[in-house]
Amino acid sequence: MSSLLRSLLAALFCAAFLQGYAQLTPDFYSESCSNVTNIISDILVDAFGSDIRIGASFIRLHFHDCFVNGCDGSLLLDNSDTIVSEKDAPPNKDSVRGFDVVDRMKAALESACPGVVSCADILTIASERSVFLSGGPEWAVPLGRRDGTQSGGLDIVMPAFFDTLDVLKRKFIDVGLNDNTDLVALSGAHTFGRAQCLTFIQRLYDFNGTGESDLTLDPTFARSLRRLCPMPLDGNTTVLSILTNLDLNTTDSFDNRYFTNLQSNQGLLQSDQELFSTPGADTVEIVNNFASNQTAFFESFVESMIRMGNLRPLTGNEGEIRLNCRVVNIPAPSIAISSSSNDAYLASSI
Ligand code: HEM
Ligand SMILES: *[C@@H]1O[C@H](CO)[C@@H](O)[C@H](O)[C@H]1NC(C)=O
Ligand SMILES: *[C@@H]1O[C@H](CO)[C@@H](O)[C@H](O)[C@H]1NC(C)=O
Ligand SMILES: *[C@@H]1O[C@H](CO)[C@@H](O)[C@H](O)[C@H]1NC(C)=O
Ligand SMILES: *[C@@H]1O[C@H](CO)[C@@H](O)[C@H](O)[C@H]1NC(C)=O
Ligand SMILES: *[C@@H]1O[C@H](CO)[C@@H](O)[C@H](O)[C@H]1NC(C)=O
Repeated sequence: MSSLLRSLLAALFCAAFLQGYAQLTPDFYSESCSNVTNIISDILVDAFGSDIRIGASFIRLHFHDCFVNGCDGSLLLDNSDTIVSEKDAPPNKDSVRGFDVVDRMKAALESACPGVVSCADILTIASERSVFLSGGPEWAVPLGRRDGTQSGGLDIVMPAFFDTLDVLKRKFIDVGLNDNTDLVALSGAHTFGRAQCLTFIQRLYDFNGTGESDLTLDPTFARSLRRLCPMPLDGNTTVLSILTNLDLNTTDSFDNRYFTNLQSNQGLLQSDQELFSTPGADTVEIVNNFASNQTAFFESFVESMIRMGNLRPLTGNEGEIRLNCRVVNIPAPSIAISSSSNDAYLASSI
């Protein structure tokens, strides 16, 4: 092949690379859909009116989206001929929620600016608005993500409520976040929202084979949780889906009480309390700092949310802008065929 062709090709690949990894930017939609944040915010405010929990549910959707294949809206895909939905995977099943509100946002955006705003960006914007509307900080949200065409399926790996601190740390590092400030600040999202008995009952009766409740769980709090979640008997597991507040003090506000709760052994999940109660852990002083200084928490939280939102985004020509967040525009097999025939075409023309 000629050197001219070679450098042309190099330039082409370089452009594709730069475009593919283009920076996300807060003004990405300023020309194409300048009202995007208002449109999302109005629907969110409306949803809050009948469901105070919806903000918490949105930020959890964003987290579960970003930790699997990056922030590409993969979590939003329903089952189909080509998709095994992440919604049925253990960390999500009967747990993640808010999809009907995502649908309403997407429909409003498709009517205002058709084919422009990605589902991944909807989750990002709605998360920021949820935090702000609940009393937390606001920030300029980097935008320009595109939607993926694949699902992580049923075998996705997420941090789990029973993980030890070592495992939580490794899972954060594995996706490209840090295992101290990011882990602690983002866990601070448990300042609002709910959890089911299933996710903390292992702490209440025979924790880790000790025959008693988790020693890092305040005894009075443990008693009230045992009343709420009686040991499931006779195979009746109904009790496991009973809900309680992740932050028992200021249940629906975005504030730093989550961290003062940890200091008084009132973290709900094992994975929460370990941040403070694991002897010698570097997370302890971060918890103490956030507990005593809400501004420090808010500033770190914003930085960590932006880092989480920037995990492996699809940009430029990668992926697509889904028209319906539940389905890919073009099913996966035809994409594979057209791109490989493109490659063949390119190769044969060289
Ligand atoms: C550090 C590891 C984490 C673990 C092990 C974890 C685990 C959990 C669990 C088990 C629940 C309750 C689910 C249920 O009972 O249905 C929950 C709820 C929640 N999580 Fe996490 N989480 C983690 C990190 C995060 C992060 C990084 C965020 C967001 C930045 C987040 C936001 C939330 C919110 C807001 C809820 C309440 C959702 C609702 O009420 O609908 N979590 N989490
Ligand atoms: C922006 O959206 C809001 C809320 O949906 C609407 O009230 C307003 O008229 C819109 N503004 C423009 C310029 O379209
Ligand atoms: C559970 O017990 C095992 C073995 O005794 C120990 O290594 C582990 O750290 C304990 N886990 C927790 C969360 O306490
Ligand atoms: C299962 O437990 C729930 C809650 O404790 C109770 O309301 C329900 O009646 C029980 N169902 C059966 C079949 O025993
Ligand atoms: C949180 O609220 C509980 C119950 O209302 C109370 O017992 C506890 O002292 C409070 N904890 C903090 C850290 O304020
Ligand atoms: C709280 O944290 C902020 C941000 O890190 C810092 O500027 C401020 O000095 C801290 N306040 C106190 C009282 O330490």
